[in-house]
Amino acid sequence: MTETTINKLKNHEAKEVTIKGWLFNKRSSGKIAFLQIRDGTGFVQGVAVKNELPEDVFNLCKEIGQESSVIVTGIVRKDERAPSGYELSVTDIKPVSLSEEYPITMKEHGIEFLMDHRHLWIRHPRQHAILKIRSQINRAIREFLDGEGFVLIESPIITANSCEGTTNLFELNYFDQKAYLSQTGQLYNEAAAIAFGKVYSFGPTFRAEKSKTRRHLNEFWMIEPEMAYYDHKANMELQERLIEYIVSSVLENCSMELKTLKRDVSRLEKVKAPFPRITYDEAVKMLKNNGFDFEWGNDFGAPDETFIAEQFEKPVFVEKFPAKIKAFYMEPDPENSSVILGADLLAPEGYGEIIGGSQRIHDYDLLLRKIKEEGLPLKDYQWYLDLRKYGSVPHSGFGLGLERTVAWICGIDHIRETIPFARTLNRVTP
Ligand code: 4AD
Ligand code: MG
Repeated sequence: MTETTINKLKNHEAKEVTIKGWLFNKRSSGKIAFLQIRDGTGFVQGVAVKNELPEDVFNLCKEIGQESSVIVTGIVRKDERAPSGYELSVTDIKPVSLSEEYPITMKEHGIEFLMDHRHLWIRHPRQHAILKIRSQINRAIREFLDGEGFVLIESPIITANSCEGTTNLFELNYFDQKAYLSQTGQLYNEAAAIAFGKVYSFGPTFRAEKSKTRRHLNEFWMIEPEMAYYDHKANMELQERLIEYIVSSVLENCSMELKTLKRDVSRLEKVKAPFPRITYDEAVKMLKNNGFDFEWGNDFGAPDETFIAEQFEKPVFVEKFPAKIKAFYMEPDPENSSVILGADLLAPEGYGEIIGGSQRIHDYDLLLRKIKEEGLPLKDYQWYLDLRKYGSVPHSGFGLGLERTVAWICGIDHIRETIPFARTLNRVTP
């Protein structure tokens, strides 16, 4: 008898196979039991018929509890109606560990209850699909960047530097010295870009944001490419090619998961480079012309971003924000120094900003001035200034928020389901 996995059942049609998995759900009548079996690679229905099985085997099929671990043997049958295309006629079942009174039943549960049981909830087909897509997005990003000759550089998680404002830092006591959990790998990536040309970091980042929105986490993952000799335009061109690659990779490799999530894939199929570009000024006009009470110089809120993005079928770049509302390191536009050579990429369908990126200041004196204006402790930024002293070049980079990208591609409402164990304002467990 062949041991296999659910995702490979198509190679075993009409053969008897064994699957090591768990009982996800069950329905039974006197004569027949339908067992929903999962094994990590997928879900399949096992059909156990009373008068085709030894009595003890059928009784077990009927009585075994939800989420018991089981080794199931059965004959693979084609079934057009099944999501996987196959079904299993059960010939034997061996329990490994019996589970009783599994807390997540088939009825509706509240979100806090589900988040409290996140360690179990991730087994559910919907959560399984989201996290499989997340894994595929991870893979696609690495494939793309590695294929383009980028070098992976790990930036530290513990750092003395802030980069994205000082109001949302998680502070640590680092042997009696002040340190923070990293908000971004960017400053280190800039050092690495001068050493390696094109680099990226891909790690967890931390922000003590007290916002309880469906777009914010306190721990999230960011992909941060940084490229020497790239200007703002080349930066955007790389971003749109990366996004196109990610989306087509998910469409190609995760059709079953997208189906589980009932995702309208026609929206994703439109995500092809180049993406539209508008300036901040144009975006402000767009808002004002449509009745938004918005003042030039403010940052966009979620409803503003949603409205702007809704005007386009593809993700849209909003470039040249006022310098005042953007980070200290962004290169001013030589044509108008009150705006910066950077862009946010807004995802369609109301998912908001998925990328923040810019060209970086490469002039020593200007950067020094900006660091002082920002009120940052100069001694901790001396190394960063060094990069403008020794072989400085124009360079650019960006940060892609993994969870917001997953939320958009999966078409789900809330960012908390896009990461295995979310860290939010009121949650550090499980
Ligand atoms: O725009 P941000 O703050 O940019 C940076 O951190 C730059 N240093 C990146 C760089 O240029 N290397 O963040 C980048 C992206 C956002 O567009 C968003 O997708 C995501 O990170 N992000 C968050 N995702 C979830 N929860 C939060 N609290 C997030 N804050 C930012
Ligand atoms: Mg941003």
